[in-house]
Amino acid sequence: MDCPIKLNQNESPFDIPLYLKEKILQKLKNTKWNIYPEFVPDDLYTKIANYFNLSKTNILVGNGSNEMIFTILAASAEKTKKVVIPTPTFTVYNLISSNLNATIKYVPLNEDFTFNVPAIIEESKTSGSITVLCSPNNPTGTYLTFNEIEKIISSSGGIVIVDEAYIHFGGETVLDLIPKYNNLIILRTFSKAFGLAGLRIGFMISNKDLITELSKVKLPYNLNIFTLITLSEIFDNLSLVEENIKTILSEKKFLASELSKFKDLKVIPSEANFFLIKFFDSNFVFAKLVEDGILIRDYNSYPMLENCLRVSVGSRKENEAFINSLKKIFKYGEKL
Ligand SMILES: Cc1ncc(COP(=O)(O)O)c(C=O)c1O
Repeated sequence: MDCPIKLNQNESPFDIPLYLKEKILQKLKNTKWNIYPEFVPDDLYTKIANYFNLSKTNILVGNGSNEMIFTILAASAEKTKKVVIPTPTFTVYNLISSNLNATIKYVPLNEDFTFNVPAIIEESKTSGSITVLCSPNNPTGTYLTFNEIEKIISSSGGIVIVDEAYIHFGGETVLDLIPKYNNLIILRTFSKAFGLAGLRIGFMISNKDLITELSKVKLPYNLNIFTLITLSEIFDNLSLVEENIKTILSEKKFLASELSKFKDLKVIPSEANFFLIKFFDSNFVFAKLVEDGILIRDYNSYPMLENCLRVSVGSRKENEAFINSLKKIFKYGEKL
């Protein structure tokens, strides 16, 4: 769909500045393209481990966290009796589990989109299971507390994946639990807060033994020279990323405050860089937004998400365009 304003994939509204792109391209020009990248890019591992206060032996880096999700599920699918997926959540888990013929046990979220923790614990007890917890969750923006996640990990009979793709915007990280539990894998991505979705880079954090096992399944040379050079430059310019996160968080407040003025929609409280919004007629709203050149994500056909649309927090200009378009569709305080 040809929409100039793209608020449908929870991306950062901020691209890398041109001067930095030029510098990266120059480095790329001076690198040999006919030579494989390092098998294990030590410099990159060191930078990531240092920034997140981890040990290099606790991480495995991939071509987006999507690759890491595939690696974990592919490594375990045969042995895995079931994959426990609270739903609705990030669809890639369902997609990959189905493709691998794993048995999927969906645990619906509660009506207010909070997690049904007792039901997840019950399902996750199965020996050899894999339980997926996106916290903050996509597309709802709801999250699990540290204590809730720890309860699930400690009673699980298998592995628990905690996907923290949106953790820079809210929620509670469980990084501190890595040394305590050998069945925990945390996923992180550079696609959201770091604004590098086009780069395709994400990583997993776990205990050394699991990382060693999963390294054997990961494709060799999965990180290309463009990714390696760019990420290295980003780590030398982290203040840019940190400024952008602050701006996104303040834009999120602006968007929430503007949305709260509309009477005919319901915004789900969100810990992420997006909002799930329930309308009376989401098809009508979606089509009208597209007419105004604004693309958001349509969830109308998903279970539990009838009439729901999800909008990413954009730049001030994009957020204003979205709000102004909604104002044309609805009138503040009046019924449709
Ligand atoms: C919960 C969650 N995990 C992972 C990803 C994908 O991350 P990556 O771009 O690193 O593959 C997304 C992207 O939307 C997501 O919502």
